[in-house]
Amino acid sequence: MPVIVLVGAQWGDEGKGKATDLLGDRLDYVVKFNGGNNAGHTVVIEGEKYALHLLPSGILTPGVVPVIGNGVVVDLAVLFQEIDGLEARGVDTSRLRVSANAHVIPSYNRSMDKVAERFLGSRRIGTTGRGIGPTYADKMNRVGVRVQDLFDESILRQKVEAALSFKNQVLSKIYNRQAVKPDDVVKELLSYVDRLRPYVGDTALELSEALDAGKVVLCEAGQATLLDVDHGTYPFVTSSNATAGGACTGSGIPPTRIDRVVAVLKAFTSRVGEGPFPTELHDKFGDHLREVGHEYGTTTGRPRRIGWLDLVMARYAQRINGVTDFVLTKLDNYDDLDEIPVCVAYEVNGVRHDEMPISQSDFHHAVPIYETLPGWKQDISGCRTFADLPKDAQRFVEFVEERIRARISVVGVGPGREEVIERHSVLSEA
Ligand code: GDP
Ligand code: IMO
Ligand code: MG
Repeated sequence: MPVIVLVGAQWGDEGKGKATDLLGDRLDYVVKFNGGNNAGHTVVIEGEKYALHLLPSGILTPGVVPVIGNGVVVDLAVLFQEIDGLEARGVDTSRLRVSANAHVIPSYNRSMDKVAERFLGSRRIGTTGRGIGPTYADKMNRVGVRVQDLFDESILRQKVEAALSFKNQVLSKIYNRQAVKPDDVVKELLSYVDRLRPYVGDTALELSEALDAGKVVLCEAGQATLLDVDHGTYPFVTSSNATAGGACTGSGIPPTRIDRVVAVLKAFTSRVGEGPFPTELHDKFGDHLREVGHEYGTTTGRPRRIGWLDLVMARYAQRINGVTDFVLTKLDNYDDLDEIPVCVAYEVNGVRHDEMPISQSDFHHAVPIYETLPGWKQDISGCRTFADLPKDAQRFVEFVEERIRARISVVGVGPGREEVIERHSVLSEA
């Protein structure tokens, strides 16, 4: 013990990678438990930028064991590209562990993802096109391919043939694409086997033994609460459980072993892809925050949609995840503003909502009710204690904290590893 779960409180890109990196030297294991290379985490260490998609952010901390849990979907080409890229920059990746039960993303699921989006036209989700949805659908449909299947060629062949017997009909008859040859898929997957073998194991057992030995484990979510397939803005979500509950199913760590839940909350809101967004900005403030915050997708390069901070969502994230500590990131991106509106509730058809509306249509029509706080109009990137912050920045943090039912333990004031204010240790209650 202990186990810490780290999640995103909004629609992703809150700064989870940086938060994990910040805790890095206090951790023994970092487990990615959901999603795949749809994620994009940027971590800046001593001015050097690292962009991670599939590997857990803990890979950047010497001594930490990074784990790809059973709940992850793995694109093997991306896995080895990422490993090679980090090794070339001097990062040791040899400690990586990969669950034998994780599913792999065969190339046909990347094709399925892209053609399905094109087919949906204006009703598209705006996916990252990485094959995430079709691979999780295969898992639930019980026609998926797991990492362990790669070590038994005849089983692998059977599974790929079974999946393609249906998918090829869809690809050729509905989407008018060429059928995929099972042999080609099997050959590609087998080409990774020798490199993959040393990393693969029973990661649930390894984590259980590590916890018995008193090690500290962090379970790091990809995506975020409002992108969770059960608790997010369905259907404009990803296809996995990105909330704290997913940490158990996606890693094999039981709920009784979880001690702390940390949610990363950006001081404003961003979203990539389609779907409702009550506080979205289509004006100079949105453009300003996108530019100062470099809000362009790490994975697809798409400009992120930007909006004001939404505390209805933050309270919802607290409740769904059982958040004990918030990490509030990117407070410094407000340095130039005179005033900062914060959404405290919604109005839907004349009715005030302090909690997320239960119906998606109401959420689509939610009009934010704002309270406006004064800006501080100075550079806060050099602040290292709460007392260093200008009074209006302190007031902003306290205003948010009073409304989200959990303490704000860390405040981010810049992208760098050292650009933080730590008010409380997220590892302890005191
Ligand atoms: P993730 O997907 O949640 O890991 O977040 P991303 O890495 O996609 O996006 C967060 C971006 O914000 C990254 O470029 C980080 O370097 C940057 N970032 C994180 N915390 C802060 C902060 O407190 N201030 C500033 N200015 N940038 C930050
Ligand atoms: P991190 O971990 C932001 C979004 C996509 C799309 C929807 C479904 O960096 O916070 P998918 O390819 O998963 O089927 O796409 O989810 N999405 C993300 N948005 N950050 C992410 O990850 C995301 N991962 C998926 O843009 O709207
Ligand atoms: Mg990201």
